[in-house]
Amino acid sequence: MTQEQKILQLEQKKQEALLGGGQKRIDSQHQKGKLTARERLELLLDSGSFEELGMLVTHRATDFGIDKEQYYGDGVVTGFGKINGRLVYVFSQDFTVFGGSLSETHAEKICKIMDLAAKTGAPVIGLNDSGGARIQEGVVSLGGYADIFHRNVQFSGVIPQISAIMGPCAGGAVYSPAMTDFTLMVENTSYMFVTGPNVVKTVTHEEVSSEELGGAQTHATKSGVTHFTAKNEVECIQQIKQLLSYLPQNCEDAAPNYPYKTSTSETRDALATILPKNPNQPYDMRAIIEATCDENSFFEVHKNFAENIVVGFARIAGRSIGIVANQPAYLAGVLDINSSRKGARFTRFCDSFNIPLLVLVDVPGFLPGTDQEWNGIITNGAKLLFALSEATVPKVTVITRKAYGGAYDVMNSKHIGADLNYAWPSAEIAVMGPKGAAEIIFKNEIKQAQNPEERLQEKVDEYTETFANPFKAASRGFIDEVIQPQETRIKLIKAFQLLENKVASLPKKKHGNIPL
Ligand code: HXC
Repeated sequence: MTQEQKILQLEQKKQEALLGGGQKRIDSQHQKGKLTARERLELLLDSGSFEELGMLVTHRATDFGIDKEQYYGDGVVTGFGKINGRLVYVFSQDFTVFGGSLSETHAEKICKIMDLAAKTGAPVIGLNDSGGARIQEGVVSLGGYADIFHRNVQFSGVIPQISAIMGPCAGGAVYSPAMTDFTLMVENTSYMFVTGPNVVKTVTHEEVSSEELGGAQTHATKSGVTHFTAKNEVECIQQIKQLLSYLPQNCEDAAPNYPYKTSTSETRDALATILPKNPNQPYDMRAIIEATCDENSFFEVHKNFAENIVVGFARIAGRSIGIVANQPAYLAGVLDINSSRKGARFTRFCDSFNIPLLVLVDVPGFLPGTDQEWNGIITNGAKLLFALSEATVPKVTVITRKAYGGAYDVMNSKHIGADLNYAWPSAEIAVMGPKGAAEIIFKNEIKQAQNPEERLQEKVDEYTETFANPFKAASRGFIDEVIQPQETRIKLIKAFQLLENKVASLPKKKHGNIPL
């Protein structure tokens, strides 16, 4: 073969690889409203930045005549590129090749880029669209999955790992996304479940569609398996880019700090009027977040799951922060099993990747009831307590209104290691709400009074005056400063600047034992 012929041969192979499973299958992918693996990467990565690895890999299987059917790349496009100028590693499963199913070589390609990502300290983004284990390969394919799972775990907390689900994701395959840091799903074209509707019907006699069982809305609202949902693939890819903008490249890197010009005034008058006059009325904690953080910087995570707690990323004077905030607009902001799990997971992510934490508190306590107790509010509530106690990143708290009972301790109190604790004058920091407290401690006095209701009110007022304020806690130093709401942003800018060089570490250990 001449040199020219060799070059031509390479070009032909590349052209063939670019077509994946062929034009007919590409058309069928488009007809389903889905993009191809390569189109997705084009949207995700900075133009011209993609460097493909393993383009000419083919499978080695021989059973069931599969050796006669070979496609370059073997159903997954892998490599590295840039997003907004920052290095990322990517794999994008190609549904046009054996339904994106995972073979031995397909898995090897994914493992290779994961290893490179860990060695060079850059995030891995997986675009999943796969019929699961390559059926013709049997256990070899299962081994391939496990090789990926093992790396997901080894590199957890080392580099950010992000999974977008853009098609089927079933069986044990769901466990790779589940062990990455963030999962995104596309509405109506993606689903995740351990067993599909047919098996469900056989085993439990339930009739359920794929969408209802494991579609984007289900996992966004009911299970919390997905952190984000998108109307379509383009929006999903935008969300990945936005998410990355808050994250460092790896656990040794600092969270991004964007250039920020100090505006003429950091006072935010809007903060003074958000709380309703009646302390028992709800308000939307997002209004406080938005008025406090840099304009339009709040990026909510797990928006429609366990809405009594709000978590997400934002920026304060250009710095990435993670926010964990009670949401009085939903179930009065009470802590329950799901909100504790949600807050704990987000806290641990931020702590893994050096993202300072802001905790906004307005919490009446833990949700009572048999459902909560029998399903383990004790263990689950402890997750949030454990995660916040364990976090060594800068931790700042602002109590806007209620901070009652154990929930006061849990929500980043001074006692569990918060660095700076602020409270608004409206804060009520006590063992329990004034009415409940008065009914217990003045029970006999109220019962014996000529007018019990009047006496109860007197006692409620007395308790409110004594305890339902921030001053007792401030006098003890549990609150560092009682601040006017309008000053919150200024205080937080200074607090996070001050804490930028915080050094803290945990006692020597292998790892803690978070109550899972
Ligand atoms: C090999 C597969 C495949 C698979 C699909 N294909 N899944 N090939 N192994 N797992 C091939 C099909 O033969 C077909 O080839 C092409 O991909 C597209 O599939 P269609 O069925 O035509 O597409 P569609 O109608 O969109 O249905 C997609 C699907 C369905 C729902 C994913 O293909 C399906 O149910 N596949 C099997 C899913 C499954 O049971 N996987 C194993 C799960 S167990 P042609 O040549 O026609 O284009 C598992 C365990 C993992 O994954 C455990 C990890 C620990």
